[in-house]
Amino acid sequence: MTDKFISIEGISKRFPASGGGSTTVFEELWLSMARGEFVCIIGHSGCGKTTVLNILAGLEPPSDGTVIVDNQSIEGPSLDRAVIFQSHALLPWLTVMGNVAYAVASKWRFMRKDNLHRQAQKFIDLVGLTGAEHKRPAELSGGMRQRVGIARALSIEPKIMLMDEPFSALDALTRGTLQDEVRRICLETGQTVFMITHDVDEAIYLADRVVLMTNGPNAVLAEIVENPLPKERQRDDVHRHPLYYGVRNHIIDFLVSRSRSFAEEMKGRRRGRASSNSGHELPQSCAQTPKENSHDTCRSHRKNSRHQA
Ligand SMILES: Nc1ncnc2c1ncn2[C@@H]1O[C@H](COP(=O)(O)OP(=O)(O)OP(=O)(O)O)[C@@H](O)[C@H]1O
Ligand SMILES: [Mg+2]
Repeated sequence: MTDKFISIEGISKRFPASGGGSTTVFEELWLSMARGEFVCIIGHSGCGKTTVLNILAGLEPPSDGTVIVDNQSIEGPSLDRAVIFQSHALLPWLTVMGNVAYAVASKWRFMRKDNLHRQAQKFIDLVGLTGAEHKRPAELSGGMRQRVGIARALSIEPKIMLMDEPFSALDALTRGTLQDEVRRICLETGQTVFMITHDVDEAIYLADRVVLMTNGPNAVLAEIVENPLPKERQRDDVHRHPLYYGVRNHIIDFLVSRSRSFAEEMKGRRRGRASSNSGHELPQSCAQTPKENSHDTCRSHRKNSRHQA
């Protein structure tokens, strides 16, 4: 892939350990994303997903490595990168319109009031909140609040949307509806998205590629699974696609067992032994040789191993 819109280049993160020294949360993470791509990252609790997202948001620096977005390395937070957290984090004293307009005004300080209002309204409409503009967060359901968070993030027309388990606090019905809307909006607007989820079905429904991380500490990016389903997929019949259960089982197998044993598996491979416990064709280029772990190597590997997934 030639369009490296986002390039995560060998980042690692260490935090001071309680007994002195430091703990490495994850190491040598390489990943590139194209403009308009939707990438989901999956891994067990504590492997460092939120830390990766915070680095992408510019909220904290990596201990090693760098992240380049649109040819500029990340030096701190920017309105080019909008974050949607698990909890919506709305300003409680402002209305729906007020919350979204506040974000618009912080990006375009000198925008005329009527234009500002129009920009906010456009995204309130896009997330299906037309008619609720005057309501305050306390008057909204959890799903509606999360929609305001999405409208607010989209309204500043960010280069990337970073989402940290944005739907996990919602009931199944609302979650499904919001997934549909986010998918529709991203397709319509060509939005680039990096999203954390624990939900395998959500990842397969939304993502173009799914990044699998091993357990922490010292987590690594183990695989990048290219979604074999057609881009034009529908929630109702996504599970009928002949490759759906293959890819789903592959990700679940990874989470259940290989996320723990991956390091050993790779050591065995390096010693030239066939992996004894997985039966999977592993993308070596995606795992332990990070400098080769480019978008292209991973993509071509998945093309070969996709049917085994
Ligand atoms: N500021 C910090 N200081 C020290 N350790 C931290 C800090 N922030 C995160 N950690 C540690 O880094 C590890 C990864 O945390 P992170 O929140 O990124 O995990 P996660 O994969 O998002 O987990 P979850 O799925 O539970 O949200 C954890 O062990 C956590 O305790
Ligand atoms: Mg997290």
